Amino acid sequence: MLAIVLLAAGALQASEGFTEGEILSNGCGGCHGHTGVSAASSMPSIAGFDRRYTARALREFKNGSRHSTIMGRLMVGYTLPQINLLASYYADQTWEGSAFRADPEKVEQGRRIHEARCEQCHEDAGRYQDRDMPRVAGQQPDYLLIQMQLRRAGTEGMQQPNRMREALLSLSEAEVLAMTHYLASRD
Ligand code: HEC
Ligand code: HEC
Repeated sequence: MLAIVLLAAGALQASEGFTEGEILSNGCGGCHGHTGVSAASSMPSIAGFDRRYTARALREFKNGSRHSTIMGRLMVGYTLPQINLLASYYADQTWEGSAFRADPEKVEQGRRIHEARCEQCHEDAGRYQDRDMPRVAGQQPDYLLIQMQLRRAGTEGMQQPNRMREALLSLSEAEVLAMTHYLASRD
């Protein structure tokens, strides 16, 4: 099945000049959006992510060292060169924040928590990103909530520095929810 899709995509490439990364991304768009801007609350946007972060995450999904529900099974079918092409393709796309309509009180509560416990790493209100850390500002809310809950529970294969786990564990359930309202509504 994948071979047929790739063959068809190869024909498109010849005729319309799509890059290989763009063609490979057809297998991702159904969940992450055509250019990596997700429309579903539980699916992360990945447009504009640091190429090195995306490539590492995809390699770790593939080798099973990173926790996943779907991505691990999916990435088994991709080679390391294909992973690099995908990571470069998404790094070139433009980030767009979620359209989530947050509760202003929860946003204010989340802002205070962020400044005290998260901003030291997730700088610029969560917009900062680098090879070790994705952007969290404007990310899809249910995805953020799931990620925080899995990390609070200490789920195997969830990655985070110790200081982040300590910060998350110090929050109540209501405060975790406030964090999703704050982060998801950042531009
Ligand atoms: C069926 C839906 C689905 C498809 C198809 C899919 N993804 Fe994912 N992706 C997810 C989910 C859900 C997660 C969260 C991890 C998990 O539970 O598997 C995720 C996580 C990710 C992450 C980590 C995001 C972060 O913020 O750390 C990256 C990068 C990613 N996917 C890239 C891709 C690429 C590249 C493809 C195509 C080869 C792809 N995904 C195809 C659903 C999907
Ligand atoms: C010591 C630095 C540090 C602190 C403090 C920290 N984080 Fe993180 N955070 C990280 C790193 C590094 C990652 C990426 C880990 C990985 O590879 O998945 C991350 C990942 C995340 C993710 C998952 C993003 C994604 O796309 O999968 C969320 C959500 C998050 N942090 C929220 C928070 C919140 C909320 C706080 C404060 C309560 C916080 N972090 C505090 C460093 C930190």
